[in-house]
Amino acid sequence: MITIGIETSCDETSVALLRDGDILVNLVYSQVDLHARFGGVVPEVASRDHLRKLPPLVEEALKKAELEASQLGLVGVTRGPGLVGPLLVGLSYAKGLALALGLPLVGVNHLEAHIFAHRLAHPEAEPPLVALIVSGGHTSLVHVPEWGTYRQVGATRDDAAGEALDKFGRLIGLPYPAGPAVDELAGRGDPQAVPFPRPMLESGLDFSFAGLKTAAVYWLRDHPHTHQEDLCASYLEAVVEVLVEKTLRAAKLLGVQRAAVVGGVAANRRLREVLPARAAAGGVEVYFPPPELCTDNAAMVAACALFHHLRGEETPLSASAAPALPLG
Ligand code: KG4
Ligand code: ZN
Repeated sequence: MITIGIETSCDETSVALLRDGDILVNLVYSQVDLHARFGGVVPEVASRDHLRKLPPLVEEALKKAELEASQLGLVGVTRGPGLVGPLLVGLSYAKGLALALGLPLVGVNHLEAHIFAHRLAHPEAEPPLVALIVSGGHTSLVHVPEWGTYRQVGATRDDAAGEALDKFGRLIGLPYPAGPAVDELAGRGDPQAVPFPRPMLESGLDFSFAGLKTAAVYWLRDHPHTHQEDLCASYLEAVVEVLVEKTLRAAKLLGVQRAAVVGGVAANRRLREVLPARAAAGGVEVYFPPPELCTDNAAMVAACALFHHLRGEETPLSASAAPALPLG
């Protein structure tokens, strides 16, 4: 069974082909250069670029996998949450493809797809688990007692973790999105140099990152000559410490021994270092997909679509994009 996955919910156009559970190709075209000068994603610009890039990317994926369109068995696409224009481009294309080839269509939740990146990377590490979804648009903790069942147990009350890194990066003059550059600079800095706060560290499973960004604004006003490496290392340390603490708290409260970290920020080196080390002490195993499956990609969309297809689910051609689609 060959599944084609299509992802266009934000600023990555991605097309993947899966043979059963194996990735044949996973092509990602990032629009970051297009949005960098605006300091964030411009929805209309993103929609137009998805429209331009998606059809040739599908051709390229088929060519790389040495497949014909007639060999496809299932079309999976992100239906939400995300930006409505970009979502509509992918969904409309997927519907057209399904209709033209007489294939079933499965529209998936982008957050559930992120969790399926874990399943693709570590199929042996099955639920029950707690998933930490950390990206530019989302930061949440999700209890996964079994595949297909999700209960959000914590979420950010303001900015997402990636957003907190991107806004901080903008403040210190790094190009958008700043997460990877902060990651890089932090590796050469002192995480204890600046005493940034750890918002909401002591209580509950929710997050709040807006205050951290404000603390950075005031610190820079009062200490404008702080080394950039030390600033990045200290700021990242505050974000990582909160993510680690809450994930382990959730695992303990839910009584699960496994944690899966997914989404763009899961590519962060400091998080990948600190969380497993801290978790080991509490008997919790932590899994990170490889970086290319952490950031937005269509392989995770295809894997999620295949799971629902095998359960007999199908999305009608009348389905619309769902920009605020909840998980679970
Ligand atoms: O999952 P993703 O590709 O898109 C969304 O659904 O948001 O995540 C993008 C986010 C951005 O905020 C970016 O700065 C962050 O992930 N990011 C990182 C790293 N790579 C990407 N943050 C920290 N360290 C990284 N290595
Ligand atoms: Zn995402």
